[in-house]
Formats: sequence, structure tokens, C-alpha cells
Amino acid sequence: MNENNKLPGHIAIIMDGNGRWARKRSLNRIRGHIEGVKSVREITEECASKHIKQLTLYAFSRENWSRPRIEVELLMRLLKRYLIKERPTILKNNIRFTVIGRIDGLPKDVQREIEINIEESRHNTGMVLCLALNYGGRTEIVDAAKRLAKEVKDGKLSLEEIDEETFKNYLYTSEMTDPDLLIRTAGEMRVSNFLLWEISYTELWVTPVCWPDFRKKHLEEALSDYAKRERRYGGLIE
Ligand code: IPE
Ligand code: IPE
Ligand code: MG
Repeated sequence: MNENNKLPGHIAIIMDGNGRWARKRSLNRIRGHIEGVKSVREITEECASKHIKQLTLYAFSRENWSRPRIEVELLMRLLKRYLIKERPTILKNNIRFTVIGRIDGLPKDVQREIEINIEESRHNTGMVLCLALNYGGRTEIVDAAKRLAKEVKDGKLSLEEIDEETFKNYLYTSEMTDPDLLIRTAGEMRVSNFLLWEISYTELWVTPVCWPDFRKKHLEEALSDYAKRERRYGGLIE
């Protein structure tokens, strides 16, 4: 089992494979998304009970808008339902709810439910649950660069003050630590525009298991693999 000091503080997950899970069962893709919500619930509660500090879930990318309109609409409806239905679970588990991404690009009714979850959980002291919604890693960096450029233009910041530390303060993730462990389900060996800045030294773990099948035991596998890793950050271990 994992020693506590070897647990990742921040876990990020690319929840992929809902469509393939459904296809294997000759079901509609949306059924895969519906089943995927159950994995979100189980993994969130499991991480909270293990005292993981933060769980960041990639739920909808900027690129996902290019899917058929019907799928996008159903995903937004499902997201709204999730935000309402999971509210008591979030509060019961002392979880603080946050989001990253271009939230103003989401449907207004979804934005409203997000606001309620953030507001109602703002004083919670347990795990931070962060949903990446309408999120793109490159967009995040461009948005940060724009805000930074404006501050320089307005004379609030000098060029000399810009370093990695300062730049980080302009990212959506300014308040967070970088992920220690990035999990991707459904086997694809790519990052799909997720947290490009933040994962520079994150440990990666990919499983062929599709997201709707991802359960506690798979999380355990990832955690025990992580516990064996030696993180060197370009240096040497004595
Ligand atoms: C992940 O599952 C959910 C989202 C990207 C919203 P997919 O819908 O990408 O499932 P596959 O990759 O087609 O199997
Ligand atoms: C990544 O999955 C995005 C989310 C999990 C929200 P995709 O299914 O969109 O990624 P690609 O298209 O396989 O790279
Ligand atoms: Mg996919």
C-alpha cells in the first residue's frame, strides 16, 4: 500500500473513453457520458477520503465544441444535472469546488450552477475539486500573456519583473500547485491540450481502462505506481 508521504498532493485526470465504452456495448455515446458521471462520483469521494489535496478533472475541452451539436448539447445538459445533483456530496465531503477554463463561453444556466457550487463550498477546508470546462492549455497561456501584457502597457508591471513565478500568477491555476500525477484513461498517449504549463514535471500514468469503468481499484494501481517513482526534476538523487 501507499505510504502517506508518497501520495500525490494534486491528481489531474483526462477522463477519456466514454464513447468507446458505449460503442463496445452497442450503446449510444451519451450512455457512456452518463456512466462516466458515476466514475466521477466514486473517484472524487475516494480522493477526498484519502486526503488528496486537489483533484482536477478534464471534463470539456475547447476542441470538444467541434463534436456534433447534439452531443455537445447533451454534454451540457449532463453537466448541469451533475452540478445540481452532486452539490450535497460536495458539501458532505467538505470539498471546495472550483473551475478552470473560459467559463463565460458555457451556457448561462450551466454558469449559474457553477457559481452556486463555488459559493456554497467556498469555506470548505477539505479537498479542492477543480473541473476544467471549455478549457484549453494554449488558450490559458495566451489569456495569461494578454493580461500580463496589459499590466506592462498600463505601467503596473515592468518587463524585468516577468519570470516563471510571475507568469504563473496570471494562469487560471494561479492558486494551485502543479499536478503531481496525471492519469489518462482509455489508452491514448497524448495530453490533448490539458494543463500544458502545469504538467512540466508531472508524473504520467495511462491506463487502457475506459473512464466509465474506472474505479477505486484502478486509482489504487495508479497511486501505488506513483509511490514507486523517483522524481528528479532534472537533478540527481544522492
Ligand atoms: C471523454 O470521452 C469525454 C469527453 C471528452 C467529453 P470521449 O467522448 O472522448 O470518448 P471517446 O474518446 O470517443 O471514446
Ligand atoms: C480529452 O479527450 C478531453 C477531455 C477528456 C475532456 P478527447 O477525447 O477530447 O481527446 P482527443 O480528441 O482524443 O485528443
Ligand atoms: Mg476521447
